[in-house]
Amino acid sequence: MVLTALGAGVLLPLCAAKPADTLTLEDKVNFVVGTQRDYIYRPDAAPGMPLRVQGDTDDPRGATAFSEGPVKGAAGETYDLTSKGLPPIVMADGPAGVRIDAVREGDSATYYCTAFPCATLLASSWNIPLVEEVGDAIGNEARHYGVDILLAPAMNIMRSPLCGRNFEYYSEDPFLTGKTAAAYVRGVQRNGVGATLKHFAANNQETMRNGIDVVVSDRALRDIYLEGFRIAVAESNPAAVMSAYNKVNGKLMAENRYLLTDILRGEWGFDGFVMTDWWGEGNGARQLAAGNDMLMPGTWRQYDEIMEAIAEGRFTEQQLDSNVAAIKRVASLYRGACDNAPDLKAHAAVARRAATDGMVLLENRDRALPIAKGSKIALFGNAGYDTFVGGTGSGNVNRAYKVDIAEGLVNAGYNLDRLTADGYAARLARFKEGREADDMWNVAVAPEYLLTENEISRAAADNDIAVLVVSRMAGESADRTLTPGDWFLSDTERANISNVSRIFHEARKPVAVLLNMGSVVEMESWKDMPDAILHVWLPGQEAGNAVADVLSGDVTPSGRLPMTIARRYEDYGSAANFPNSENAATVYYTDDIFVGYRHFDNSGIEPLYPFGYGLSYTTFEYTAPVVTMREDGALDIELDVTNTGSVPGADVVKVYRQYPRGAEPSFDIIEGSEIYVNPEVDPTNPVMPVRELKAYAKTDVLAPGQTRRIKLTLK
Ligand code: GLC
Repeated sequence: MVLTALGAGVLLPLCAAKPADTLTLEDKVNFVVGTQRDYIYRPDAAPGMPLRVQGDTDDPRGATAFSEGPVKGAAGETYDLTSKGLPPIVMADGPAGVRIDAVREGDSATYYCTAFPCATLLASSWNIPLVEEVGDAIGNEARHYGVDILLAPAMNIMRSPLCGRNFEYYSEDPFLTGKTAAAYVRGVQRNGVGATLKHFAANNQETMRNGIDVVVSDRALRDIYLEGFRIAVAESNPAAVMSAYNKVNGKLMAENRYLLTDILRGEWGFDGFVMTDWWGEGNGARQLAAGNDMLMPGTWRQYDEIMEAIAEGRFTEQQLDSNVAAIKRVASLYRGACDNAPDLKAHAAVARRAATDGMVLLENRDRALPIAKGSKIALFGNAGYDTFVGGTGSGNVNRAYKVDIAEGLVNAGYNLDRLTADGYAARLARFKEGREADDMWNVAVAPEYLLTENEISRAAADNDIAVLVVSRMAGESADRTLTPGDWFLSDTERANISNVSRIFHEARKPVAVLLNMGSVVEMESWKDMPDAILHVWLPGQEAGNAVADVLSGDVTPSGRLPMTIARRYEDYGSAANFPNSENAATVYYTDDIFVGYRHFDNSGIEPLYPFGYGLSYTTFEYTAPVVTMREDGALDIELDVTNTGSVPGADVVKVYRQYPRGAEPSFDIIEGSEIYVNPEVDPTNPVMPVRELKAYAKTDVLAPGQTRRIKLTLK
């Protein structure tokens, strides 16, 4: 018999049966520690030995808890407590699409997912509605396949062009990062699937990622490395946050209460749950106490550490209850039917349209692009025939197909030079002979072929234009290097671009270079050789069709760079101390708030292609912006954008808050697609960046002569 007070003096006998979902202590610990558990972690492993090994745990419990999980190939799930009203919460990667097993033993059905363009391409679109649409399609696939929490968006700041995971990230700028992430999350969560902001925080390099200590000022942490997360929490109410592997100022992120609880929850009001990154370092009880509610993918070591800490009074069941409550609060929101039948055809169309919207035209001399359909094209470069559509690691997607650039060009009605195509096909076939098939961690990259003068001369005589593809592959757990074939062109790539440009120009034929990669390479030494350069990033499974859409002019390129491309690597603020050796235990963010364009502005270094840069096939004109201040001090900015060219196209208008050094604060409005507003300089923070992006909007596609009014608010 349970008595309860229902108000002053009123007592009613309540015979409350034990609710079905009363969790025992063991249930609670099982709930917060993922089911993988059959890995064990060997901190004392001999150098070079794996720190964790699957399946060799001698713990008898491993056999019972470890499950294939309700969705094969998902990244992890919570313990099955269906009897207590808590069925497994299924979690799957990733930023460019859902990653689950597409083909399953003993199952005749297939579970292919759509490989969407990489995150960097989405940010390059500066198109918030489009990013929401991509998030919606990915969330829809997750729901149909029984995934409850998507482990995306990944949104760490591109402090350096060498970070191996930049393709999974958005930008060097926290505002563009936050707005893009928020749009993606809103799209995903519309489907009853939770999204996860990752990797919180300052995971801006992969070298020694499982413990590297990021030493960074609180100002830089807040203004640069946390600001995108803050915007995304405020504007999309994400279900989850994933703590990063690294340390921040000496404290493991997974045990960092200041960031995971004081800031994330206390200051920002985040009310979802926090999970560790997979096998993130740290003691299970300390991780929970810091505000890491779920330990993924879960090990028996963490389970035991929690039980011991409770037994010894270092951690309490009440604390554990708050971790359980945080997960339950979210779990109830993100559930739904699982019919394994998403509309992959519709999603492929979204992937193709999104891919065209983020491609960035860097050069286009003498209007080399677009290329008239029916033209004869000599396509050079391995990735023309075996195109990189996504990166490796957890960001990979098990897709049903990919459209290479060659196939896309043929689909669009171009005539591909057969001799050239056959040469690449034969060499690629030979390279792949007897090799392991690519998988999510490893993609075999064939060496580029050095074209002979004769081959190029013959191709120049037989074709209207040369298209040459330069490609790079990258993925988590390793950073890129300052070597030929990575940051620099390889000798073969350089020779090919130089020779093809020289010989085709002698034949009065144009040359276009396509960059098929998730980041950037050194360009100053060769960018004047070809006539046109189009950055196509990692465009997803419809890559070839999307590239053809832009090369043909069916779609006018409207992408804008989300990061600065420097003339030299040393010009980046992070060049002085980006960790590029295996024993980099600490990295000092001495560039502080001056990351990306903030650094180039502040140091007066001229970049090769600045943040926000991108050409079009058409031209635009702008009326003088009209700025009105609202009661609350926000600025409403309105202007008209007109397509003054001869083909349709979209444009991006950006507003920067500018802090001219020493100048009197004023409201200078500079006409054009970049508007600068000079506020009062904050006397308590005299060191300010010269400018910061504070608002932007992309027009829809404007027909020649069409005008669109753009309204922006600067809060
Ligand atoms: C990986 C990645 C993370 C991913 C997780 C699950 O190591 O760091 O982004 O979501 O593990 O695959």
